[in-house]
Amino acid sequence: MAPGDRQDRIGRLLNLLRADDTDKLEATRPFGPREFTDPEAAARERDLIFGRVPSIVAHSSELARPGDFLTLTMPRNRVIVVRQRDGGVKSFVNACRHRGALLEERPSGRCRLFSCPYHRWSYDTDGSLRSVTYDHTFGELDHAASGLVELPTEERHGFVWLVDSASAAIDVAAWLGPEMDAALAGYRMEALVNYRAEGFDEPVNWKIMQDAFLDGYHIKFAHPNTAGKIIHTNVLAVEDYGRHARFLSPRKSIDRFLEEDPGDADLGRHVTESHFVGPNSTLLRQPDHFQLLTFRPHPADPGRSRMEMRVLVPTVEASGFSEAEWEKRWNKNWQILLDVLHAEDFPLLRASQTAVSSADAGGMVLGRNEVVNQIFHREVRRLTESGTR
Ligand code: FES
Ligand SMILES: [Fe+2]
Repeated sequence: MAPGDRQDRIGRLLNLLRADDTDKLEATRPFGPREFTDPEAAARERDLIFGRVPSIVAHSSELARPGDFLTLTMPRNRVIVVRQRDGGVKSFVNACRHRGALLEERPSGRCRLFSCPYHRWSYDTDGSLRSVTYDHTFGELDHAASGLVELPTEERHGFVWLVDSASAAIDVAAWLGPEMDAALAGYRMEALVNYRAEGFDEPVNWKIMQDAFLDGYHIKFAHPNTAGKIIHTNVLAVEDYGRHARFLSPRKSIDRFLEEDPGDADLGRHVTESHFVGPNSTLLRQPDHFQLLTFRPHPADPGRSRMEMRVLVPTVEASGFSEAEWEKRWNKNWQILLDVLHAEDFPLLRASQTAVSSADAGGMVLGRNEVVNQIFHREVRRLTESGTR
């Protein structure tokens, strides 16, 4: 599973397909149903994964102009992410420093300052406390120390990354490592725009959700009339980057090269290239766009999570389409993705959560062929066992 150039990797994938084989690890990996239901395990994940390492919270284009903000619920904090006047991005805990009201209730918007709904204190978009109402009656207050609590945030490769702990540091390049950092840099996703973002709050543990989107083994069984018609099942060529992974799956359109040598033909159109970007994202590279899926634990309930889907596309100008054509094309693409999620993946995954919640659900196992799922489980365990809270 050594890295190689794209054509070599596709060649290797073609050989796996010819041999009715897939990349495999040395051994199966046992796991237990409690990993999806145990409150103590969930608390360790919140602190030792999301409180320690960067995860993607937005595409840069969602915060295009100064004052553009979005709010989100991270596993440890309610958060405001906001574009700064100097072009940077900062994140703050979405809690007023007076008596803790939720400062910003809207999911996104643009503002000059954040104004608290409770007693109308206001904060600059850089987090500093700007005004205290009835200041002359309030009494002693250290204004400089009463700004919003900042969370480590960095913009890289067109995404906004955040560590969900005020006391942590952030270094996205170090977290990605050389292989994944170079792969993401090569895609130039900062030149794309987020066509649409939508979140789904599901009664399912985040790892059950994430697992389903690293899985090449379920395709034709769970998606017989959609993805199963287009993509081969149980054929993945995987590069294990340690914390992250890149994996190729063959589209059925590649079949005509099974018998003949493709020579120099560009086979890029005949594969889907996916990435596990740890700790909680799947990035799919399609011929003309990217799809980003992120999975976040609920702040308290191990049996709930939020999935966010984003489709990143060339701008209208770069695409060569008219605005109407552009909208029509990507809207159609978006609706197809939504239909498959709602009709096929979510019902199966909700039912999985109820099944693993059975008192005597029994031990379970990941196969040698479930390479990316094994990498994901391995990394969750490495992070949650690597520290104390
Ligand atoms: S809680 Fe925000 S101003 Fe009082
Ligand atoms: Fe699926």
